[in-house]
Amino acid sequence: MTAPELPLAASGRTAIDVARGCAEAGGALALARFHGAHTIDSKGRGNIVTEADVEAELRIKAILAAEYPDHKVLSEETAADTDASTGWTWVIDPIDGTKNYSLGIPFWCTNVALCLDGEPVAGVTYDALHGERFWAVAGGGAFMNGEQVAASTRADVASAVIGMDLGYDDALGAAQIALMRRIFPHVQTIRVLGSAALGVAYAAAGRLDLFTHTNVYPWDIAAGILLVREAGGAASDNSGAPLRIGSRAFAAGGRRVHDDFRARYASVQGGVPDVLSG
Ligand code: IPD
Ligand code: CA
Ligand code: CA
Repeated sequence: MTAPELPLAASGRTAIDVARGCAEAGGALALARFHGAHTIDSKGRGNIVTEADVEAELRIKAILAAEYPDHKVLSEETAADTDASTGWTWVIDPIDGTKNYSLGIPFWCTNVALCLDGEPVAGVTYDALHGERFWAVAGGGAFMNGEQVAASTRADVASAVIGMDLGYDDALGAAQIALMRRIFPHVQTIRVLGSAALGVAYAAAGRLDLFTHTNVYPWDIAAGILLVREAGGAASDNSGAPLRIGSRAFAAGGRRVHDDFRARYASVQGGVPDVLSG
């Protein structure tokens, strides 16, 4: 597919510049509050939102309203129902890894992606705490700060380090644990990191060989889908189709590990009742 031409912002900046500026503004706000006390509201067991999530999201939306007033915004805390399947839509997760963030665990990030008809075309995952900016534009490669990154070339699951997360649905989280039990010890090791978005960015950069999850939302993966593809990796949903922002269960990372994972474990990941009874 030919990469679409991306629209310039009102200020004349490119879309990736605006995406980076948004991620930096949101990430800086979150970082400034990281070590302080937080106002925490519960959205479900284990699923929380802090004042920093909402403020960072509003800060990002204010930039987008000025730069791209005609574009839609789909964002976790204040605009979660926007239809991103048509037209230009910005997809935002102001803090991915909020549970980590609220506990002072230094593994969280800010995600900003621009999608055209539901396909990510520019994306940034910004780890403000470590000063790491993972970014990609469709057709232009994937980068971490100034360096081009590449997904893992390892051959198979047996030689891989695989990242996972449990999400906020008990049955689907239990399915992930069943998947871990099925894979381990036929793998180098498994990491449960607490930020799906940073886990996918790590898979794009070859730090993890693969990242897999059963229950994500568009703002968790919009930037990561593009990062992994532009890093030469593979990203699919649990039916094996190319990963889309509306997919819930997926695997993304180095092509060979991805293909081996799908061949060996796709039926496990795709069949939650099967996993739970196994
Ligand atoms: C969550 C994190 C977590 C993953 C959940 C996500 P949030 O995002 O990425 O690692 O397991 O599925 O929803 O709530 O911290 O933005
Ligand atoms: Ca998230
Ligand atoms: Ca979030």
